[in-house]
Amino acid sequence: MKAAVLTGYDKKGRDVEIRDIPMPQIGANDLLVKIHTAGVNPLDNMIIKGEVKMIVPYKMPLVMGNEFVGMIEKVGASVKRFSEGERVYGRIPLDRIGTFAEYAAVSENAVAKVPEYLSDEEAACVPLTALTTLQALDLMDPKAGETIFISGGTGSLGAMAIPVAKSFGLIVITNGSAENRDRVLSLGADRFIDYKTEDYATTVSNVDYVLDTLGDRELPKEFGVLKEGGKLVSVRGMPNGEFAVRAGLPAIKRFLLKIAGRKYDKMAARKNQKYFFIFVHEDGAGVERIGKIFAEKHIEASVDGVFSLDDVNKALEKVAAGRSKGKTVIKIV
Ligand SMILES: NC(=O)c1ccc[n+]([C@@H]2O[C@H](COP(=O)([O-])OP(=O)(O)OC[C@H]3O[C@@H](n4cnc5c(N)ncnc54)[C@H](OP(=O)(O)O)[C@@H]3O)[C@@H](O)[C@H]2O)c1
Repeated sequence: MKAAVLTGYDKKGRDVEIRDIPMPQIGANDLLVKIHTAGVNPLDNMIIKGEVKMIVPYKMPLVMGNEFVGMIEKVGASVKRFSEGERVYGRIPLDRIGTFAEYAAVSENAVAKVPEYLSDEEAACVPLTALTTLQALDLMDPKAGETIFISGGTGSLGAMAIPVAKSFGLIVITNGSAENRDRVLSLGADRFIDYKTEDYATTVSNVDYVLDTLGDRELPKEFGVLKEGGKLVSVRGMPNGEFAVRAGLPAIKRFLLKIAGRKYDKMAARKNQKYFFIFVHEDGAGVERIGKIFAEKHIEASVDGVFSLDDVNKALEKVAAGRSKGKTVIKIV
């Protein structure tokens, strides 16, 4: 089968190769999925640069791709919840990625059926970013009527985080570049801030939660707008000791990440706030929960561009270049 393969890490970034490789083998609890579409994420470029090695060290050559939409072609002997011919989607397990390919073997615990109203391209926008949002909200444990600030909400994560946060009854403030204002407000955001003309550090205060997508350069300001005792979940800052324990990392990594994330733990402690880092993991039940929210609220997906598998490097470059208006998608079938 055809697949996009990374042959080694490169700090400066490098092209992935389209290769003909053997079909994946399925285990008893796996599904063999014919991939229709796959979302492209900043995470894919981070993997190429070796930036997530500490959390997941991959062996090369590596078939790239973290999420997918596809049709089940075959089920493993112990699979109970799915059958051949069903359209499923999910964030593929961290230790066995590979969705920029014609087929993938995926654990049944990582997938859910796709809501019918979503096309393959639209559904490809959902699993990774929607799960990221759910996993962040689960840590925040918010109540309806509270306020969340989502930084950089104009990208592919914001396109999911805003409607999902709204479905929890939250008041959503977000920022990003001005040309995305109308689209972001139509996703349900209550307030949009153009980050080039308004400094939220002076106009926003006392929010209950922050979902940080921008990391180090913005975190001090984000802690500044968070209320005393509030919670900040970052998807871009440094992992800390709490994350290492939650993720079940070995003792040496717990020690190293405790040191790495101490700066943010200290920032948080000043106002009795809490700092969390997340690295989105597979969760079929979570994708199913998301599907229900989507079907009930008829949330629309934001597709920013569609590329063929042969053009995977162009898709990765587009994501690396920023100026995102939603999700970049690879269409395989
Ligand atoms: N840890 C995890 O599990 C996890 C999961 C999902 C995503 N992430 C991370 O989350 C981040 C966002 O992901 P994404 O898919 O949404 O990326 P994306 O599609 O590239 O979107 C990023 C958005 O942020 C905006 N932006 C850039 N600088 C900004 C600033 N100073 N203030 C406000 N907005 C700004 C960009 O706008 P312009 O380019 O138009 O200026 C762009 O629309 C990435 O770093 C990704 O790695 C992590």
